[in-house]
Amino acid sequence: MDKSSSPFKIEAASWRDVGELRTLEQECFGQDAWPFIELLAALTFPGLVRLKAVVDGHLVGFVGGDAERENNLGWITTIGVFAAWRRQGIGSSLLNAAEVAMNQPKVRLCVRKSNAGAVDLYLREGYKPVDLWKSYYVGGEDALVMEKVRD
Ligand SMILES: CC(C)(COP(=O)(O)OP(=O)(O)OC[C@H]1O[C@@H](n2cnc3c(N)ncnc32)[C@H](O)[C@@H]1OP(=O)(O)O)[C@@H](O)C(=O)NCCC(=O)NCCS
Repeated sequence: MDKSSSPFKIEAASWRDVGELRTLEQECFGQDAWPFIELLAALTFPGLVRLKAVVDGHLVGFVGGDAERENNLGWITTIGVFAAWRRQGIGSSLLNAAEVAMNQPKVRLCVRKSNAGAVDLYLREGYKPVDLWKSYYVGGEDALVMEKVRD
């Protein structure tokens, strides 16, 4: 894939993306990667938001969202971009598209405290730390819970 001539598009994802999504999850999250069955659920369960960034017909990034409508709250459940495609605005575009698709006044997500790049992205996109979940991740690292109040 030629990066210089291939702007990305954001599209709805489906079960057909499960193979590429699995590869993405492994690259992005390693020990935290969702098992196959959870990926399939994210791509098929009714009511969930599932969007992919596409270049030349290939998935280069993915975001999942789950809106708790009774609480007026949307959750970003996963977001990742292949390393070769990072720092080109794909992550922020996926995040913004999921916020719009969930259409809730508040959006939350959680992130490893040490994941400085992702925390930087979220701060830049208007998220603020609101909670800390102790020992949430494999290996015992805390999760920083961040929230954005949408205009
Ligand atoms: C986090 C992630 C999705 C960002 O995707 P991306 O396509 O690189 O994001 P963008 O290009 O939209 O980045 C926008 C801004 O976020 C910040 N940012 C993103 N990655 C960063 C990094 N590694 N270091 C510092 N700042 C970073 C910067 O402010 C960046 O703007 P800049 O490139 O002009 O400096 C991507 O790095 C990724 O997939 N990481 C592995 C999986 C992961 O950690 N997911 C988040 C779990 S909560």
